[in-house]
Amino acid sequence: MLIRIPDLLTAADLQQITETLAQAEFVDGKLSAGWHAQPVKHNQQLQAATPTAASLKAIVHQALDRHPLFQCAVRPRLIHSILFSCYAVGMTYGRHTDNAFMGSQGSFWRSDVSFTVFLNDDYEGGELVIEGVDDEQAYKLNAGSALVYPSSTLHRVDPVTQGTRLVAVGWVQSLIRDPAQRELLFELETVRRSLFAQAGKTTEFDLLSKSVTNLLRMWGE
Ligand code: NI
Repeated sequence: MLIRIPDLLTAADLQQITETLAQAEFVDGKLSAGWHAQPVKHNQQLQAATPTAASLKAIVHQALDRHPLFQCAVRPRLIHSILFSCYAVGMTYGRHTDNAFMGSQGSFWRSDVSFTVFLNDDYEGGELVIEGVDDEQAYKLNAGSALVYPSSTLHRVDPVTQGTRLVAVGWVQSLIRDPAQRELLFELETVRRSLFAQAGKTTEFDLLSKSVTNLLRMWGE
């Protein structure tokens, strides 16, 4: 399941992030790539272990924490490994799949879901392209919006041809590991909320609530 989240970041969030990034120090993006992705990764990333990076990560983390669509569709157990990437003209990230586990000795987190938060939109090229079985789809969302997609896909970032592409990327270990189960829960929860909005706390609503809650118990980890 692939989801667009329009205006994940407020205008104030976006301004704070982009103004900070304009002054910040970036390093070679290969430093954070798996060995198989290093040969195709040509971008720059914000130096990770700094107070600046921590404060910007917190802004993105909090925006995801408070967004009902993200919470309902992704069921995050842990949002991790948020990075800020910069692609100048000619920079690209060729076709790759994201590592299944991220972290370091002793603490590893699974990547079930990937997300890209678009921080600007005044550049050309630089589409995020996600491959399906027999076709592919290119995405370039407005500044402040996010694309959420399965970490299991092959995907790439096409070369930037004009301007600079700024994004925040990150990964989520979901409470619901199986994407099909996650999608079923998302649909049931959507219906449940719609039923409540239309008719309030009916018997049907109560039964559906029981099913959703018990499926979460059955499938959650
Ligand atoms: Ni990736």
